[in-house]
Amino acid sequence: MKERFYFDIKTKRPEELFENVKDYFNSENIKKYAKSKSMMRIQEKITMRALELLEIRSSKIRILDAGCGPGFAALYLKEIGFEIVALDIISDFLICYNLTEVNPLVADMCYLPFKPNSFDAIISISALQWIFRDIYNKKMEALLIKLTKSFYKTLKNNSKAVIQFYPKNNEIMEKIGNLFISNTNFKGNFIIDNPNNAKKRKIFLLLKKE
Ligand SMILES: C[S@@+](CC[C@H](N)C(=O)[O-])C[C@H]1O[C@@H](n2cnc3c(N)ncnc32)[C@H](O)[C@@H]1O
Repeated sequence: MKERFYFDIKTKRPEELFENVKDYFNSENIKKYAKSKSMMRIQEKITMRALELLEIRSSKIRILDAGCGPGFAALYLKEIGFEIVALDIISDFLICYNLTEVNPLVADMCYLPFKPNSFDAIISISALQWIFRDIYNKKMEALLIKLTKSFYKTLKNNSKAVIQFYPKNNEIMEKIGNLFISNTNFKGNFIIDNPNNAKKRKIFLLLKKE
């Protein structure tokens, strides 16, 4: 987690403009997001890459999709044979499509409502930036710490979690990595695709519970 990248982000992302994710994702923005074919393609592409990073050997496993939105990642994973639980904090996202087969659940991913060792993998695509985006904000830090512990507890031993997200800068990215490592026994590293292209860059935090 030592390399530094130049983050050339000129336009403000929604999580910088809205303090609470529920204020940004009102019914209009939920509809817009859920209907967007390009968004669906992007989320599926990121999910394919996340799956590659998880190095899963069998399809007979149970995956948690944390921050599932309308279910683009979850439905894709279900289609290729995995058992899925799709969780989001906004209930209206879970009724855009029929998610029955991916066991939709309204909950906060900082406080996962599962018994310890419940999942063989956790995937979280484009959601973490809503939880932690300001290194000076102690409330966000406390929530992220809750999330790190919750992910660790919920995952089975010898399993991995992969979190793709959009940090604003290097400091935030490193702080997130450090909070996972210092609050749990996860071993982890960042994988950065297209590191020198700010538009195409995708950042994944890969975590292993041994
Ligand atoms: C940009 S969407 C990504 C959706 C999804 N991963 C997909 O495949 O399209 C971010 C999602 O994260 C969810 N989210 C943000 N904070 C959350 C939290 N604390 N717990 C659960 N979900 C959260 C939002 O409600 C939203 O649905």
